[in-house]
Amino acid sequence: MEELVKLQEVTKAFKDFWGKSKSLAVKNLSLSVEKGEIFGLLGPNGSGKSTTLKLILGLLYPNRGRIAVLGKPPGNNTAKQFIGYLPEEDYLYSYLNGRETLDFYGKIFNIPSRARRERIDFLIDLLGMKAYQRRPVGEYSKGMARRIGLASALINDPDLLILDEPTNGMDPIGTREMKNLLLELKTKGKTIIISTHLLSDIESICDRIGILYQGEFIAIDKVDKLLLPYKGEHHPLENFFIDKIQQEREKRDNKKKLEISKEKEETVSVKKSDIDQELLNKLLKK
Ligand SMILES: Nc1ncnc2c1ncn2[C@@H]1O[C@H](COP(=O)(O)OP(=O)(O)O)[C@@H](O)[C@H]1O
Ligand SMILES: [Mg+2]
Repeated sequence: MEELVKLQEVTKAFKDFWGKSKSLAVKNLSLSVEKGEIFGLLGPNGSGKSTTLKLILGLLYPNRGRIAVLGKPPGNNTAKQFIGYLPEEDYLYSYLNGRETLDFYGKIFNIPSRARRERIDFLIDLLGMKAYQRRPVGEYSKGMARRIGLASALINDPDLLILDEPTNGMDPIGTREMKNLLLELKTKGKTIIISTHLLSDIESICDRIGILYQGEFIAIDKVDKLLLPYKGEHHPLENFFIDKIQQEREKRDNKKKLEISKEKEETVSVKKSDIDQELLNKLLKK
């Protein structure tokens, strides 16, 4: 199997204004995603999903560890030609309409004008944007903006698709369509990494998932395998996710409590030895 994305013990810390380490967004993270796989990056808000994706794309640099994307370092110009990215926030030029937006991205990839037009027609059709393709994107609803964002990510017919919360703000119909579209892309051999905190979105489409908690994987495996104990339940992934996060929280709380009580014990024993020393001094003086 061909590994398209490989992270080896990657750590990313954000620094504050004074250069002090402010938060460890990603801790010692290892991950490999194979060709043709749909990998789901799950986790509560702030668990490091977007940071991980940005590290893969070369938009952020790790403090430690190694990353290879399509066999190249992140951000490599040749590799970029084969990658599509949908950021968490929609960065659209409000005064361009849908078609013009796609044309703009097509030009960045140097797609010749005729092929560009055909590709844009294809994507507008694929994402059901015909009705509003000539409206300025500044007037788009969140769901429409997500669609145009995804179409932009697909303009270069990428082999690797990186989607950060693609269904955020989409209605159930849009969400269903997005799921079907991702499955269709999978049948074409595309590799997809998708981050989300909306679990129902990805349960049925991912081959493997990883649950991030405070920048670390607390579970990573094939979906069927992880959800085996939850078989027959109404929302297996949701139940698994909540159980896993709760267990991890308790584990870390207990560890913290243990550390605090150890610290207390140490201070008490230090004080005790101080008293003993005082007593000893007095006795010696006598
Ligand atoms: N540019 C930044 N500067 C400082 N801290 C950041 C920055 N980006 C993210 N973080 C912090 O890193 C952690 C992970 O954030 P993020 O990757 O956006 O999480 P997620 O996408 O899972 O919600 C959070 O604690 C967040 O506050
Ligand atoms: Mg995010």
